[in-house]
Amino acid sequence: MPSARRYKYRMSQPKVLITRGYAPEVLREFCDEFDVAVGATGRYLDRWELLERVGEVDALISRSADRVDREVMERAPRLRVVSNFGVGFETLDVEEATRRGIWVCNTPDVLTEATADLAIALLLCACRRISEAEAYVRNGQWNQINPDLFHGSDPEGKVLGILGMGRIGQALARRARAFGMRLIYHNRRRVAAAVEEALGARFVPLEELWALSDFLSVHTPLTPETEHLIDRPQFARMKPGVYFVNTSRGKVVREAALVEALASGKVRGAGLDVFENEPAVHPDLLRMPNVTLLPHIGSATRETRRRMEELTLDNARRVLRGERPRTPVNDLGPAGTRRPGGVS
Ligand code: DGY
Repeated sequence: MPSARRYKYRMSQPKVLITRGYAPEVLREFCDEFDVAVGATGRYLDRWELLERVGEVDALISRSADRVDREVMERAPRLRVVSNFGVGFETLDVEEATRRGIWVCNTPDVLTEATADLAIALLLCACRRISEAEAYVRNGQWNQINPDLFHGSDPEGKVLGILGMGRIGQALARRARAFGMRLIYHNRRRVAAAVEEALGARFVPLEELWALSDFLSVHTPLTPETEHLIDRPQFARMKPGVYFVNTSRGKVVREAALVEALASGKVRGAGLDVFENEPAVHPDLLRMPNVTLLPHIGSATRETRRRMEELTLDNARRVLRGERPRTPVNDLGPAGTRRPGGVS
């Protein structure tokens, strides 16, 4: 792992702070071109460390745990790009960055398939009671042949409601079709008719999504509009025995309401990769056998993580070379970084 010491800033080249260590082989060429400092290896930077270290940097490669807000940007007068490792960017103040002429980039596409794989895995865990059944074996409870163990439900023929039909929602839809599921979805904007047709998915208003789904999977980003979008009234409108999956953001759901819905049987089972206050998990969820709990590993395959590292570096490299980044979140124009006052 490269150390902060090894990649200490040199005077002449643009300076880059990567807040958490990357694979050395991914960094090698990048380090030839730029002065790179790695904030921390195997942990996240504390807030005060980020504030202290961002002062001289031209590019910041951030993680979902790094809050990059006005205070950080004020401390970083040279900053031209924040390149975030992850598709979600609710921790970055995009408006403030745009005002200051700073590009904000994320890593869409490269993690789509991995995250959709995990969503379908969680869906199957929920309806086939896989975590429960596995615990039974591990705990030594399986001591006689019994055909009546852990009967679950088939996904085939059931209605899957997809909340958020972006890239990951669509990748889940393709997988769910292979399981013979019937698809409905809700999205801020309805997707093109050709896409709907290819996926075999029907757009419905939110109210119908709650009421018609046998399975519900969340794929919406966290925004002020989606925070706690699923709360007690929404669970109340759902079918009894619905299965619930979330690989998006925990705060889209009020966790206490989900716990109540699970306790009452309204939600029969759940698969959760994300939580309202990560890494804390509601204590009742920890005790519920019909819930599979994962530590936010949606994109955690070696191949995907490598592609994410490469994309964050590529985005930063392009901006520092005066080019347009590959996957920007904001739009500062066709090429280069427009600084306030027109400086590029
Ligand atoms: C993402 O890509 O947004 C992941 O959830 C990591 O934060």
